[in-house]
Parts: sequence; structure tokens; C-alpha cells
Amino acid sequence: MSSNKKLFIQTLGCQMNDTDSQHIQAELEKHKGYTATDKIEDADLIIINTCSVREKPVQKLFSEIGQFNKKKKEGAKIGVCGCTASHLGHDIIKRAPYVDFVVGARNISKIKDVVDVKGSVEVSIDNDESTYEFSTAKTNQYRASVNISVGCDKKCTYCIVPSTRGEEISIPPEMIVEQVRKSVALGAVEVMLLGQNVNSYGRRFSDNREKYTFTKLLQDVSKVEGLKRIRFTSPHPLHMDDDFIEEFARNEKISKCIHMPLQSGSTEILKAMKRGYTKEWFLNRASKMRELIPNLRITTDIIVAFPGETQKDFEDTLDVVNQVKFDQIFNFKYSPRPGTEALNLADKEIPDEIGSARLIELIELHKRHLEDTMPTYVGKTLNVLVESLKPNGEVCGFTDSYLQVFTKGSDELLGKFVDVKITEATRTSLKGEIIS
Ligand code: 5AD
Ligand code: SF4
Repeated sequence: MSSNKKLFIQTLGCQMNDTDSQHIQAELEKHKGYTATDKIEDADLIIINTCSVREKPVQKLFSEIGQFNKKKKEGAKIGVCGCTASHLGHDIIKRAPYVDFVVGARNISKIKDVVDVKGSVEVSIDNDESTYEFSTAKTNQYRASVNISVGCDKKCTYCIVPSTRGEEISIPPEMIVEQVRKSVALGAVEVMLLGQNVNSYGRRFSDNREKYTFTKLLQDVSKVEGLKRIRFTSPHPLHMDDDFIEEFARNEKISKCIHMPLQSGSTEILKAMKRGYTKEWFLNRASKMRELIPNLRITTDIIVAFPGETQKDFEDTLDVVNQVKFDQIFNFKYSPRPGTEALNLADKEIPDEIGSARLIELIELHKRHLEDTMPTYVGKTLNVLVESLKPNGEVCGFTDSYLQVFTKGSDELLGKFVDVKITEATRTSLKGEIIS
């Protein structure tokens, strides 16, 4: 379908949201003839795909859509999608009547039905199989994202996600494999499997088929011919059983970078967060992985200043950080979220200045670790999938362990694997020369 209608999408939040935005774009291109633009002023449709996991994005939403309303061209529509849409629903249009439609995080597949219906609100979190069928989502020409489940069954006491994305339902493995095949046929060599909690995959399907496991799914996906690399996010440390870790270590297609969201290093706080594991379990899983996979990179999420977090609890977090030496940390200061259980702990909330100081201490510690670990790559030869061209005559790509590497090169390297001898390291990326 072709027309001159232009679509502008702004995406906040996590990788699930990035993929949802890619789906929104693909669906609206295919069914409604929109093409993407990065200029709000040119857009006939402006969509903001929101996140509600921390407080600021919600506050920002209304000022941002107000700005969009001022900048938009005459007659352009505004839609609000994603997690804040799920959680505020009709209130968005009540508070900002110029918003044309609202589509929740679990209802993205409805986008083509609502764009032309002024005032429509789709935020149900019931199961609906149409949510699985999408046009292909691509981050770039070589990387595709494929959802493997929707929703989340965990009850982490700080987290709003279960109320915005609903209960966890796994997408049937044959649909996932088919989606991966299609993406590879379109040129992808790497696939990112996405879910709120990927390694609890297979516990519940929308039909009453037999249970499945994430480990089996990884085996199925790795059989797709032409696929070179498999990545996934997010796994839950609690479900990192030996089977999973051994498959991760053995399967050469699986990228050797794993996200292990710690959240806290204190067993007491983990209990209050209802994470289901202890400090010792986390350390045991991380060291088993490091043992089996020598070049492994481990990334994590940490929340500081959860209600009741004492100095001793925080030191437990620093202790885990010191032992695991994470390769990347996404740090957050606790933010009370509506409808979550942790609100009951309001009387134990930690003063903001203490939270900020803890955040800084954690960031500084991690910086020191990176200053130790990153230079150890200098002199090594790493295999890199080249993905993009930089304006300064360099190309950029990622190693199997998802380290970003820059090197001199041109567009003929795009999509190819090359060996790069590393000559320089910063805290977050490497530079080197191609030797093959
Ligand atoms: N406050 C601060 N951080 C949070 N996260 C989730 N909910 C909250 C909250 N209420 C963080 C967690 C999660 C990441 C996506 O966001 O670390 O893993
Ligand atoms: Fe992603 Fe959670 Fe934010 Fe929703 S609330 S966009 S699931 S991080």
C-alpha cells in the first residue's frame, strides 16, 4: 500500500518497547500506507510509545504530548501507546483531549484498527492471540527481534509491568521458529529473542499444549539455517538452571553475553522484592557461567535505595558487584510505582540524598572495574559482525560477547564477520585494525 502519509514514532523504555515500535511501524506501513519520518512537523501521525517503569517517564509524557500538539501540522493525529497507555488508559484522553487514540503495551496488534477511530482506547490485558502475529521487526538489516512471550507472571514488589503487560503467555515455538526463518530470509544473521522473563518460557500457552522450556526453544531456533547469532533478554537469575547454563555454554550460535538482573545483592532486600533467590544463589549462577564460558560478559540491572535498604544491605550489593565484575550495569534509584506491593513499605523509604549517594558510589565502583577489564582486550583478535557505517570512514560492529568495536572500513564490510586486532580501549568500546 502506498500513500504520502508520514509517521513519527518516539520510543521510551525497554527493548520490548523498541520492538513494539518496529511492529507499529511495520503494521502501519503495510496496512495503512505510512512511511517513517524523523521530523515531527512533517508527520500525519505522531505516536509516543511510553514506559512506566520509573516515575519520570510518566510525568514527562504529558509535557511531551503537549509539545507534540504544538509542533504538529494541521490535522495530524497523536497516539499514545505502550505501558503508560496501559496503565492510564482513558485518563490520557481526559487529561489531553487532543490525543486521538490510546493503545496499551499488550494491544499493539490493534494499531491498524484504531488509527482512524478518534477517541479509541485499547488497553485490555486479556489474552488475545492476534497479539502474536506481526510484520517482521528489524533493528537493522542484520538484526531482527522476535517476541517469545507476552506479559510477566512474577510479582516483584517494585514493578509495574505485570499490571501493564498482563499475565505471561508463551508464543508457540513453531511460530517463533517461523518468524526467525522469515527474518533470516530477509537478511538477518542475528536474532534477539524477547520477553519480560525469557527463561520461564513454555509454562503457559494459550492452548493447552504440553509445557516447553527455554532451553528447548534455544535448540530449535539455533537449527535455523543461515542464522549466525542468537541473543535474548531478559532472563531471570532464579530460572538459570544447569540445563540452561550448559546449553548456553555449548551452543555456538548463542552470543556469550548474558543479562543477569541482580536488583540487589542483599538476601533480605531480595526477599522484600520477592525475587525468589538469595545473594548466594546469584553468585553461584554467575560463577558457574564464568567457569564454563571464559569470554563471557555479564550485564545487570541494580536498584538502589529500595525501602528498608540499610548500609549493610547496600554493601552486600557492592560485594556482589566486586565479585562478579559486571561488564555493564544499568543502575536505578528506587521509584515508587502505582499499584505495586512495595508501596506498603512507604514508611521505610530511603531519603533521596542517600539514594543518590549510593547510586554514585555504585557507578564509580563499576567505572573502576571497566578501567581494569577493558584494557585487557588490547592486543587480542576478536571476531566482529560489522553492522553500521560511521561518517568518519569507520565501521562499527559487535563481537560475539556483544562488545562494540570500531575499525576503518567501508560499506562492503556491512553484514560480514571480520577479525579485528584491538589497539585501543575506552570504558565502553574498542578500536582496532582488520586482519582478515
Ligand atoms: N524503581 C526503580 N527501578 C525499577 N525497575 C523496575 N521497576 C523499578 C522501580 N519501581 C528497574 C529494574 C528492572 C529495570 C527494567 O528497571 O532494575 O530490571
Ligand atoms: Fe518495558 Fe517495563 Fe517500561 Fe513497559 S514498563 S516499557 S515493559 S521497562
